[in-house]
Amino acid sequence: MASSDFFAYFADYFGERWESLLPALRGEIVYETIQHPGREPYYLDEASAFAARSLGVKPGMNVLDMCAAPGGKTLVLANALAGSGSLQSNDRSPDRRLRLQHNVENTLPQELAAVVKVSGYDGVRFGMYRKNEFDRILLDAPCSSERHVMESEKYLAEWSPKRIAHIAITQGALLASAVDALKPGGQMIYSTCALTQAENDEVVRKILKKRKGKVRVLPLSPEIAGTDVTEFGLQMLPDRCGGRGPIYCAKLEKLTSEE
Ligand SMILES: C[S@@+](CC[C@H](N)C(=O)[O-])C[C@H]1O[C@@H](n2cnc3c(N)ncnc32)[C@H](O)[C@@H]1O
Repeated sequence: MASSDFFAYFADYFGERWESLLPALRGEIVYETIQHPGREPYYLDEASAFAARSLGVKPGMNVLDMCAAPGGKTLVLANALAGSGSLQSNDRSPDRRLRLQHNVENTLPQELAAVVKVSGYDGVRFGMYRKNEFDRILLDAPCSSERHVMESEKYLAEWSPKRIAHIAITQGALLASAVDALKPGGQMIYSTCALTQAENDEVVRKILKKRKGKVRVLPLSPEIAGTDVTEFGLQMLPDRCGGRGPIYCAKLEKLTSEE
């Protein structure tokens, strides 16, 4: 497809807002630094750090980061565990998993890294083989990542609106798996860096239907000025959030166990 199709699609989707959103997506990202004495610093978007902290991880919990590489949010979760409990940081991609392992080993002090276990499963397996197990799950799902697509002529040429619908199906399968792997009373964050609600609220809407009565949405308090409140969650976009985002997040709680 011509790269102009991408820009025409989002100009149509966002209307007048695209005029300010487009330059903001091309602008500087606002980073939070994760730094422990004598260790390598790690820089992640402040909106990403907010999404990970919203999971409410406490020491002693059994936590899954289902799509974890390269690991910025895993570092936030490991900091919250403070060396007590467990964090399974999973990612299906071998190359990205190497970066994840590097970041866990080189950014965290040994006592925090000790509770992190890196694995390489397809995320959809957790719902089948690890039912009702985790206190907290972060599903930072693979998504259209439009901010990155815009940086590459190759990605722009490969982009089509059909990709959004296709990725949303994968996101729905991963979200169902995450819900099934949560303990009753357990909570999760579903997040993406996608711009459109097809990959955000609409994926949440489908799980509420698919797992009716088994899961509910919990409210999230916006911390970053300019955050948009959506039907089920929050979206931080860089035009209103001073360069932070794009990040969407929604919080879900499991009500009953899967049979
Ligand atoms: C948005 S990125 C995760 C970013 C990460 N949470 C962080 O903060 O650094 C999505 C990740 O999902 C992984 N992924 C894609 N499909 C997957 C699947 N079916 N199971 C597990 N991981 C998957 C990709 O390799 C990619 O690293």
